Amino acid sequence: MCGIIGIVGKEAVAERLVDGLRRMEYRGYDSAGICTVHDGTLVRRRAEGKLANLANVLAKDPADGDVGIAHTRWATHGAPTAKNAHPHATDHVALVHNGIIENFRELKAELTAAGRTLESDTDSEVVAHLVSLQVEGGASPQDAVREVLPRLRGAFALAIAFRDYPDLLIGARRGSPLVVGFGDGETYLGSDALALAQLTQRIAYLEEGDWVVVTRDGAEIYDELGDLVERPIQLSGASAAAVEKGNYRHFMQKEIFEQPTVVAQTLGSYLRQSDNSVALPQFDFDISAVKRVTIVACGTSYYAGMVAKYWFEQFARVPVDIDFASEFRYREPVLEEGGLALFISQSGETADTLAALRHCKAEGQTIGVVVNVPTSSMAREADLLLPTHAGPEIGVASTKAFTCQLAVLAALAAHMAVRKGLMSRADEQEVVAHLLEAPAALNAALDHDDDIAAMAHLIAPARDVLYLGRGPDYPLAMEGALKLKEISYIHAEGYASGEMKHGPIALIDEAVPVIVLAPSGPLFEKTVSNMEEVRARGGKIVLISDAKGLEEAGEGCLATIEMPRVHPLIAPLVYAIPVQLLAYHVACVKGTDVDQPRNLAKSVTVE
Ligand code: F6R
Repeated sequence: MCGIIGIVGKEAVAERLVDGLRRMEYRGYDSAGICTVHDGTLVRRRAEGKLANLANVLAKDPADGDVGIAHTRWATHGAPTAKNAHPHATDHVALVHNGIIENFRELKAELTAAGRTLESDTDSEVVAHLVSLQVEGGASPQDAVREVLPRLRGAFALAIAFRDYPDLLIGARRGSPLVVGFGDGETYLGSDALALAQLTQRIAYLEEGDWVVVTRDGAEIYDELGDLVERPIQLSGASAAAVEKGNYRHFMQKEIFEQPTVVAQTLGSYLRQSDNSVALPQFDFDISAVKRVTIVACGTSYYAGMVAKYWFEQFARVPVDIDFASEFRYREPVLEEGGLALFISQSGETADTLAALRHCKAEGQTIGVVVNVPTSSMAREADLLLPTHAGPEIGVASTKAFTCQLAVLAALAAHMAVRKGLMSRADEQEVVAHLLEAPAALNAALDHDDDIAAMAHLIAPARDVLYLGRGPDYPLAMEGALKLKEISYIHAEGYASGEMKHGPIALIDEAVPVIVLAPSGPLFEKTVSNMEEVRARGGKIVLISDAKGLEEAGEGCLATIEMPRVHPLIAPLVYAIPVQLLAYHVACVKGTDVDQPRNLAKSVTVE
C-alpha cells in the first residue's frame, strides 16, 4: 500500500530516502514526503502527486540531516493532497504510517477535547499526537511508543522520528510489513527488502506486534509483550537491478516479456524433467486425503485460482470452492474437516487474503500458499509453501506473477491426482511434458507483439469492451477485462461465452469490440457459435486463436491475433500473453500511466 523508509545514518539522508521511495513507488504514488531531524528541529517536506514533485520541492528547499523518515502514499483516509501527505508531525514527533487506524475517530475526538489541533484528514495523524503527548509529558521515546501502541486498533507499520532524540527512530508493525536493515554504522527501516536494496542486503523481518528502536549501532527489537527479542538477520537477495526497467519502456512490458524465463524457472522447481514427473516439496501432510479444496484470493490471483479449479476438478476429482477474500471472510464459510485451504497472492500481504488465511487456520484447515514474495506474511504462515519464482513484480498490473501462479497450480493439481491414484504414470508424464512446453509457447505468443501493437488503435477509442471465453479461458476473459480496465481506463467485462445470450448480448453494437479467446480444441465450436451470435447483431470481433482456429472462424473479424497451437492444459498460460499485450498497447495508445495507473497500488494491505 504505502511505502515507508527510515535511515539513522552517518551522512545526509534526504537523497537516499527519496531513492528508497523511488523503489517503492509501486506501493502508492498519490503523494510523498520526508522528514529529517536536524539541528534540534524536524525538517518536513511534502508534495502532492508523483515522487518527482517531492524531488522538486527538495531541490528548492533541501532537508539536511543524518536521520530521517519518508513515505509514499496510497490514500485511504483523506484526499491525496500535500496536507494529508506523510510524515505527520507535531513540534516533537514526526511519523509515517502504512495501514489503517480503525479507532482514529475516537482517538481524534479525545485529542481534540484535550485541546490538540490536528491539521490533516488522515487516520495516521492521531498517532503522531498520541506519541507526542507522551514525549511532551517527559516520557522517553521507548516509553511513549510502549504506551501508545496498545491503544491502536487496525493494521499498521510505523516509523517515528523524535526532535529531541536525533540518534534514533522507532518502528512498529502490526498487520503491515516492516523490515530492519543493517548497514555499516547505519541502520534502516523499510516496508520491504526491495526498498533497502541499494543500502543493504542484511535484513531482519519484524514479526506481528514487534516494535524496534533503531540507532546507528543496530536495533533493539521488542515483541508485543514488550520483551526484548532476537529476529534473525537474513541476506535478502533483493537486487537493485530488479527494480530497473532496462531497455523496456515500462515495467509492465518488461514483466510481460520475462514470462518465458520465469515460468520455466517456476516449473523447474515443481517438475522433474529427467523423467517427466511432478516433484513437489515434501510436506508433512497427506494430500491424498483432501476431500475439498477452498481457494481464496483477490483480483488477478483470484482468476488464477478460477483456472486452477478446472484442473483440480479434472485431474484430482476434488470439489473446489473459490471466493474473493473480501467476500469469504464475512460469509461464514463451511469448511470440510481436514480440508486444504489455498491462498494465492503475488505480494503475500493482501489484507483480505491474509485475514481469510488466519480464519482458515483457526478453523483447522491446512494452509497452502502460492506466493511470489517468499518472505511475506502469507509465506510465513503457510503449512504448504508453494513459491512462484517470478521475481519482483513492479508494474501495478500483475502479469508474470499470474502465469507463474498458473504453473504452480497446474503442478499441484497433477500432484494431488497422482497421490490420489487418479493419474496414471503415463498420464503424469504427458501432463508434465505439456507443462514443460509452456515457456517455448509463451515465447511464440510474444512474437505477435508487433501485430497486437498495430491493432491496438482499433480498441483504444472504445468506451466498453467485452471479453468472451469458455472453460479455463473464461477466467482469462475476466483477467483480460481487468487488465484493460486498470491500465487503459476503458470499461471492460469478461463473460463465459455461453452466458452472453442471457443478458450481455443486449450491449452489443458496433461500438463495442468483443474480444473472443478461442484456442482450437474441444470447446472451440461452441465458442464460435457464441461469436456468431455477436456478429449477427453487428458486433465487432477480435478473435484470438491459433492458425487452425483463425482459418475456420477468422473471416470477417475486426482483427485477429494468432497464437501458437498448444495443448488445452497450457492454453490459459499462453492466452494470458495476448490479453496482457493488448491492454498494454491500448494503454500506450491512450497515453495513460501504464505502471502507475490512477487510484491503484501494488499491494493492498488495507481491507
Ligand atoms: C491486477 C492486480 C490486482 C492483484 C490483487 C491481489 O492486475 O494486480 O488485482 O492481483 O490486488 O494482489 P496479490 O496477488 O498481491 O494478493
